[in-house]
Amino acid sequence: MASAEVIRIAINGYGRIGRCVLRALYESDHHPAMQVVAINEPADLATIAHLTKYDSTHGRFPATVEIDGSHLLINDDVIAVSHHESLDNVDWSVSQPHIVLECTGHYTLEAELQMHLAAGADKVLLSQPGMAPIKPIVMGLNQQLLSSQQPILSAASCTSNCITPVIAVLNRCFTIESGVITTIHSAMNDQPVIDAYHHTDLRKTRAAGQSIIPVDTELASGIGRILPDMADKFEARALRVPTINVSAMELSIVVADKASVETVNNALREAALGDLIGILGYSDEPLASCDYNHDARSGIVDAGQTRVSGRIINVLVWFDNEWAYANRMLDVASHWLQKQ
Ligand SMILES: NC(=O)c1ccc[n+]([C@@H]2O[C@H](COP(=O)([O-])OP(=O)(O)OC[C@H]3O[C@@H](n4cnc5c(N)ncnc54)[C@H](OP(=O)(O)O)[C@@H]3O)[C@@H](O)[C@H]2O)c1
Repeated sequence: MASAEVIRIAINGYGRIGRCVLRALYESDHHPAMQVVAINEPADLATIAHLTKYDSTHGRFPATVEIDGSHLLINDDVIAVSHHESLDNVDWSVSQPHIVLECTGHYTLEAELQMHLAAGADKVLLSQPGMAPIKPIVMGLNQQLLSSQQPILSAASCTSNCITPVIAVLNRCFTIESGVITTIHSAMNDQPVIDAYHHTDLRKTRAAGQSIIPVDTELASGIGRILPDMADKFEARALRVPTINVSAMELSIVVADKASVETVNNALREAALGDLIGILGYSDEPLASCDYNHDARSGIVDAGQTRVSGRIINVLVWFDNEWAYANRMLDVASHWLQKQ
């Protein structure tokens, strides 16, 4: 693409992440250099417009949202909306996006995602880890892997974006031998309000607002794909809790080198102010999860919660699982397309 050309984005699946991506675009420096030109989402256009305008988590969208025929109008920007439920029917030949942000949560195979290319898109960025050979990209860690040759990449998971920068910093300073991670994650749309069928993970059949629910997670294997020297060093579990946004990760590691609360916090603060600025945050304020709502940083270390016992380091890292991730998808898309 020519350097002055607007980057044309399509969003497939306009749910929590899809809508956050659109809203984050208008709050970021990426607009108007990047524009959403098409959305495919099964819901009807009136509902799409309503949920773009009003959001229980992120508040009212400070833009004009209107409908014109089959288009969504955001301020002066025109977005073509289609309502296909299957990738077989998606057609990007008119909108010709430079990139599709695949945000349905349903497709992780390269063969499936190639259908976006066949439908007229140049590239696909997946909003979750993909099956090999789809590479995960985490801003601040491995964005140098972005190349113009690869048409399909993943922005990894929100949890990988939160914790792998912290792991990289602590390994650099203290040499990690092994670790266990617990994610304390807000509820998501794959959980029912009241007990229901429709999920392969039996615990996810249980009412989201009623319980702390352990769920399956692929985080441990995902870490090795992003930080190869950390492969097989971690175990992970995840708990869903009855809040609607913002999550936390508790990282426990055994290290080779001597550490203290002060040296751990100093290393993380230095990285947050240095090479990981905007990606990693550092806070010594006594905050709760709601204070991190709408925070665009991938993870924020809660310095007052750092604990060290012998060679065990334990840190707590907060993240807005929706907003931070949506911003990282835009960052990856922007870096990637500037490589053209
Ligand atoms: N929410 C988070 O915090 C978060 C953070 C990082 C990554 N992610 C990942 O992002 C993905 C989406 O999560 P989400 O929370 O945004 O889920 P969501 O709110 O359920 O959004 C998914 C949307 O895609 C629609 N959809 C389903 N099948 C479709 C299809 N074939 N074509 C077009 N649209 C389709 C869904 O419609 P229906 O409801 O009608 O099926 C829904 O509106 C998941 O892989 C998730 O792991 C989520």
